[in-house]
Formats: sequence, C-alpha cells, structure tokens
Amino acid sequence: MAEIRRVAVLGCGLMGSGIAEVVAKAGFETWVRELNVDLLKKGRTSIEKSLGRAVEKGKLSAEDRDATLGRIHTTTELQDLKDCDLIIEAVTEQLDLKNEMFGTLDKLCPPHTIFASNTSSLTIADMAAATSRPDRIVGLHFFNPVPVMKLVEVVRTIVTSDETFQRTFDFARNIGKDPIVAKDTSGFVVNRLLVPYMLDAIRCLEQGLASIEDIDKGMTLGTGYPMGPFVLCDFVGIDTLYRIAEIMFDEFRETRFAPPPLLKRMVSMGYFGRKTRKGFYDYTVEPPQPIRL
Ligand code: CAA
Repeated sequence: MAEIRRVAVLGCGLMGSGIAEVVAKAGFETWVRELNVDLLKKGRTSIEKSLGRAVEKGKLSAEDRDATLGRIHTTTELQDLKDCDLIIEAVTEQLDLKNEMFGTLDKLCPPHTIFASNTSSLTIADMAAATSRPDRIVGLHFFNPVPVMKLVEVVRTIVTSDETFQRTFDFARNIGKDPIVAKDTSGFVVNRLLVPYMLDAIRCLEQGLASIEDIDKGMTLGTGYPMGPFVLCDFVGIDTLYRIAEIMFDEFRETRFAPPPLLKRMVSMGYFGRKTRKGFYDYTVEPPQPIRL
C-alpha cells in the first residue's frame, strides 16, 4: 500500500482550517488550497490562533507549533496538489463545485491518490461518479471544533476498495482521531441522529412548548449534553443546518428531515448563528441573550 505522506485540504474555512491543523500537527506535509490569497490568509490566521491557544494552555510546545506551521503550505492552484497522496475536500456543500475540483484533480494526480470528502450530508457516490477512480473515493467526516472532537466518520461507498478504506481509516487514527465506519447514506451516523434532534427542537419552539433558554437548559442539565440544541444550531450555523436538512429531506423524503419554516425565515434574515453574531441568540451582547423569534 502506498504510504500517505503528503495531504491536501481543499478549502480553509472553519472545517478546512481545523483539518489542516490536525493533519499538520500529526507530522504530515499539508497543502491547503483556497480560491484566493485573502481566504488563505484568513485560514492561516485561524490556524495560528488555535495553535497559539494550545501553546498558552501548555498543551503544545512553541517548537511543535512552529514545526506544525512549517508543514502547512498554501496555494490557490489545484496544479500544486498533484503530488499529494490524500486530498480532503472541505468546501461548501455544493455537489457541482466538489465534482469540478475532483474532476480536475483526477487528471493531475497519480493513480494511488485517494480523494476524500468532508461532506456532512451529500453522498460520496455522487462524487465518485464524477471521476475515473470511484474505488479510491471515501468520506472523511470531521466534527466541529476539529482540533477538539475525537470522532471522524470514515464512509465507504458500494465501490470503495478495501485498500482505500483501510489506508483512510489508518490515516484517521494516525492523526489522533478515533474513527467509526459508516455506509454512504446522507448524514452518515451522527447527522442522521443529530439533525432531526436539532430540527425537533426548532419545532418545539415554533409550537410554544418552552423558551429557547429552557429547551437548552433542559437538554444540558437533564441529559448532560455539552450544549443545548439552540446553542448547537448557532455553533453549526443556521445556513449550514438548513442546507443539510434540505439535502437529507431530498434523500429520505421523511418529514423529520424537513427544515421547519422558522429555520428558513432565519436564513432569509441572515441569522446564521455565531458567525453573523445573530441566530437563536444575540452574540453582540455579553453574555449572549436569546432572541424573540
Ligand atoms: N479549537 C481548539 N480548541 C478548542 C476550540 C476550538 N475551536 N473550542 C474549544 N476548544 C478547547 C478549549 O481550549 C478547551 O480545552 P481544555 O479543556 O484543554 O482547556 C476545551 O476545548 C473545552 O473548551 P471550553 O472550556 O472553552 O468550553 P466548553 O467546555 O464549553 O467546550 C466544546 C466547548 C468542546 C465546543 C463543547 O461545548 C462541545 O463539545 N460542544 C458540542 C460540539 C458538537 O456537538 N460538535 C459537533 C457539531 S456537528 C458537526 O460538526 C458535524 C456536522 O456535519 C454539522
């Protein structure tokens, strides 16, 4: 089996930057590709901040931080990724966009290169079909915040080869994660369970069952979840949750995956959660206050 030495991450947003950080920290030469230099700078700054926090807390030495940053190479050109052994895409949830990139890389990369997607709700087979190497495509689904959450879902399609699966699964372990295996259906294991839960919380709110704060308090104090469902929705991103729900509803045609009207209204109003400083909570004030919706 060809060894994985060089890894590329497509996209350096919230998930891509976290993935690049853990991969480089584990000792792999890591290439990060973004659309332009500004996005690359933004992504690199967030990696530097995250590693800086780890140094301050005594979890990482300054030398290891510098070595990790030294292993991260940035580019805007797909051409520069042609020598990578594993390419992980973490761009927005648009199948056309992902397939266009994988289609180009398919022509540039050697046969042993594995393509992986961090998609949270699209199916891997829909990407595999766009390349000439469907047996070398897998899902590698990370969780936010990537440096903290131990889980990675390794997703195999009906045509993923045993070798590709094993190399990817071993890679997930080698970067310090604790992987599980999932079949290639929308949402895999975690979002299959988590998304209906978050959507149900919104439906409870729509029906006036209880307030945002009390529903959150109920689930943190009553079940020991680290975040209540509305804090979690704001953390994941209201726009992202809406998109995932649409994709999962399209896959299963079950009403429990359908985005509730309130979620749609919030997307229209630009209430995307923490990233826009307004979601179910208002983050422009300290401590954040629930919004009357
Ligand atoms: N980067 C690096 N480290 C971070 C971090 C980040 N973005 N955010 C928090 N941490 C670290 C902190 O430094 C801290 O480390 P120490 O314990 O060593 O000091 C630790 O995580 C705990 O952080 P805090 O004390 O600040 O806060 P907390 O105890 O409330 O934990 C949390 C924060 C880890 C995010 C926790 O609230 C949690 O686990 N929440 C649930 C997150 C979750 O469900 N994620 C999955 C979302 S779904 C998804 O990602 C998939 C999808 O497809 C949509």
